[in-house]
Amino acid sequence: MITIALSKGRIFDDILPLLKSAGIEVLDDPDKSRKLILDTNQPDVRVLLVRATDVPTYVQYGGADMGVVGKDTLLESGTQGLYQPLDLQIAKCRISVAVRESFDYAAAMKQGSRMTVATKYVAIARDFFASKGVHVDLIKLYGSMELAPLTGLADAIVDLVSTGNTLKANHLVEVERIMDISSHLVVNQTALKLKQAPIRKIMDAFALAVKQKD
Ligand code: PRP
Repeated sequence: MITIALSKGRIFDDILPLLKSAGIEVLDDPDKSRKLILDTNQPDVRVLLVRATDVPTYVQYGGADMGVVGKDTLLESGTQGLYQPLDLQIAKCRISVAVRESFDYAAAMKQGSRMTVATKYVAIARDFFASKGVHVDLIKLYGSMELAPLTGLADAIVDLVSTGNTLKANHLVEVERIMDISSHLVVNQTALKLKQAPIRKIMDAFALAVKQKD
């Protein structure tokens, strides 16, 4: 049995064509079913639906043999014990700094005045502002980051931006792009040894599909 950990949403939608290229079709629709273990057309392949931030944990401890996870989550959670063979080039977005339209970000960065930054990505934000030599106070949030500058909780946020629609709808502007993000394949190292043939088959099909899309 090969178990693949996926999260619902963008990653799930974008991985379906790649799974198909490996001959795997998921039989349940996660938007319609409450099942957390999804069957596929391959009797020896199943999909686990987990929170995006839990994918590395499931793969690291062998609850899943492989998984698909955003670079943002990998950077934030650390990647001990995970083999990361492939950038799948899916669920592409970026991590950026955003502020209220009226906030003078350039001046705040220059003056060295202490900015307050709200984010789910504390490690990424800390590294970014440290690399700029700017001291910031970080506030950890778990979602709806856009509210922080609007309510006075923070001067800026560090968050994922894809279309930019969420920022726009909340009168925020993207002032700095920290890094581009895409989703990566992660594989449990023991599983790779014990189930080498079927795992390699999936990895090779993914690699070919990614290459053909370039
Ligand atoms: C992300 C991010 C933004 C939004 C950006 O949230 O936190 O809110 O997407 O996308 P856009 O630029 O296309 O508007 P997501 O929907 O992943 O949920 P989350 O709040 O749980 O992170």
